[in-house]
Order: sequence, then C-alpha cells, then structure tokens
Amino acid sequence: KKAIGIALLGLGTVGGGTYRILENRRKEIEQRLGQPIEVKKVLVRDVNKPRATAVPIELLTDNPAEVMNNEEINIVVELMGGIEPAFTYIKDALEAGKSVVTANKDLMALHGGELLALAESRGVDLEFEASVAGGIPIIRPLKVCLAGNRMEELKGIINGTTNFILTKMTQEGSDFSEVLKEAQELGYAEADPTSDVEGLDAARKLAILASIAFNTRVPLDQVYVEGITKISARDIEYAREMGYTIKLLGIAKEEEGQVEARVHPAMIPSCHPLAAVNDAFNAIFVRGDAVGDAMFYGRGAGDLPTGSAVVGDIIDAARNHIRQNRGRISCTCYDEKVIKP
Ligand code: NAP
Ligand code: HSE
Repeated sequence: KKAIGIALLGLGTVGGGTYRILENRRKEIEQRLGQPIEVKKVLVRDVNKPRATAVPIELLTDNPAEVMNNEEINIVVELMGGIEPAFTYIKDALEAGKSVVTANKDLMALHGGELLALAESRGVDLEFEASVAGGIPIIRPLKVCLAGNRMEELKGIINGTTNFILTKMTQEGSDFSEVLKEAQELGYAEADPTSDVEGLDAARKLAILASIAFNTRVPLDQVYVEGITKISARDIEYAREMGYTIKLLGIAKEEEGQVEARVHPAMIPSCHPLAAVNDAFNAIFVRGDAVGDAMFYGRGAGDLPTGSAVVGDIIDAARNHIRQNRGRISCTCYDEKVIKP
C-alpha cells in the first residue's frame, strides 16, 4: 500500500520529540492504521544546524514549496510556533487538501475559528491537541467525550514553565531567573519566555479551552492576564506560613450566559490537589452538569510528552485520510455498476 506522507514544519523541542516517537513506534502505528506512514520532508530555518534529533539529511529543507507542492504529503505537522509564517503555511496546506496537525496555541487562540472553517470547507482535518497542556488529552475530551454536558467551570495549571519556576522557588528557595534558565534548557519555555512568565501563554490556552468547553468564542483579548514576575520569595514564604501554595491558575466560568476567563497567581490551600501539581506538570479541573467534577493531570510541556499528543493527532488524521480514500474508491465502483448495466 502507498505510504501516508507526513511533513514536519519545525525540528526543535516538539518537532524532535515527534520525529523520534514516529520512528520508534512506526511498526505499531502502521499496524494500527493497516497502512505505512513516512516522514517525507522536515522544514527548518537552517538545514546545516547541529541537531539533537538525527534526521536523514535528504529530508531537511528550508523551502516550504517542497512541502506544499508535494502531492505525496497528506499530513502537514506545524511545530514552528508564532503567527507568521505558520499561519500562511497552514492555510496553504489546507487549501492544498492536506490535513494539518499543530501544537501552536498562539495561532489557534487568534485564528483557530478561521482555520477550522477552512479545514471543514476542504474536507480535511485540523487537529491541535498538543496546543494545550502538552501530553494531557484535554481538547478531544472537551470536544467529544464531555460534549453532552453544560460546563459550569474549568480551572487549572496550564503553563509548565511557570509551575516549574514556582515549584523550585517554593521547595528549594531558588532564584527566579536561574530557574527560568533551567526551564528553557529543558525545552519547557516558549521561544520568547516572556509569554510564559507574563501569563500570556496560559491565556492563549485558556481562550482555546474555554471556547471549546462553553461552545462559544472566547477572544484572547477578553481574557484577564497577570503573570508571576511580581511574585517574590517573601510572598511564597508568607503564603506557606498561612498554609497556602502560590500557583498560576487559568479559570473560566459561565455566569448568566457570559464566559469570564482569567489567568493570575492564586493562593491555594496546601491540602488542595492543585497545590500538589509540581514541576512542569499541568492539571485541569472541569465541572459539568452531568459528569460532575473531572480532573486531567500530566506533563504539560517537553519534547516527548508534547510529541505524544502530536503523534496521537497524526494517527487520527491518517485514519480519517484512509477512511475518506476508501469512501472514494467504493463510490467509484458503485457509480460504475450503476452506469454499466
Ligand atoms: P523550538 O524548539 O523553538 O523549535 C522551532 C522549530 O521551528 C525549529 O526547528 C526551527 O528551525 C523551526 N522554525 C521556526 N521558524 C521557522 C521558519 N520561519 N521556517 C522554517 N522553520 C522554522 O520550538 P518548540 O518548543 O518545539 O515549539 C514548537 C511549537 O510547539 C510552538 O508553537 C510551541 O508553542 C508549541 N508547544 C511547545 C511545547 C514545549 O514544551 N516546548 C509544548 C506544547 C506546545 P531551526 O531548528 O532551523 O531553527
Ligand atoms: N511553554 C509552554 C509551557 C509549553 O511552559 O507550558 C507547553 O505549551
């Protein structure tokens, strides 16, 4: 059978993790799909840069046309980050009839509606599980598994970098900028870590989650944002003396038909389950009228955890691609039977 062609746009922290999972688990993935998969191209800025993830040199390119004009590529996986050129590349891929998987919350928070409409009009997938909370399944559970609920509240820790910093400041008395450097080295932080520490990354994720959970559009500029840069060692110490732990929370609630969404540091009783979410782990609580309380917990950042969510989306997009192609073949046979008596 013909391989399902995949292109990665980006081979940094998440791109590297995704490529390694695809290669290490290729046999099992192909068994699940009943069809081979193949990474055909990997778009990067600099093809000569030394890389943590070994990729055959002939796969690397800095020319996006080698992806968009390649008919053997069925799924484009955007792991570059930022708005442009990611926005243009995703639109080009969808226009060309390719499914897209992305981990880009900046883009999904700003232009998700437009991109999802474009994907639907082209009959292809746009999947973005990895854009919120790294390896934790949360987009699909909200969109599908919990869709029968009227959501009342969603709240949680949705930025790994700030949770890592607050954990180290609380448990080890570490210095803010030293821990931020460590988070960057571990691949948790954004290319510009200001968006992590000022709460904007969490706000983007909250806009995405709240839009899905409350089945409405929650624009990014309506999310109140406050980061952790003003939290001092003394604040942490005072909170601890009173039996509290400081965490950066994202909270969304629906009241009288309006969704209120906010991101800010909060004092949590140290016995609360959220207070025990440490390092780069994330946790999200939701309260639905039917399910009651549900909680999602796991690694919110990093190469393999985020790659896990990306690969799950790739498998789903590949499955849909196979299903659609089967549909086309059986349609042709049926038409032929009808036409030829
Ligand atoms: P990263 O380590 O900075 O990697 C970015 C990659 O994209 C690099 O390989 C870079 O190429 C390539 N790239 C950037 N701009 C490009 C351009 N204009 N043309 C071609 N290639 C370009 O970033 P990352 O941490 O993997 O994050 C990627 C995306 O995943 C972001 O949207 C981020 O928000 C999201 N995300 C990250 C995490 C995480 O834990 N890091 C978790 C969830 C979601 P070069 O290597 O040649 O420079
Ligand atoms: N910079 C992000 C974080 C990566 O620290 O949570 C995961 O989205």
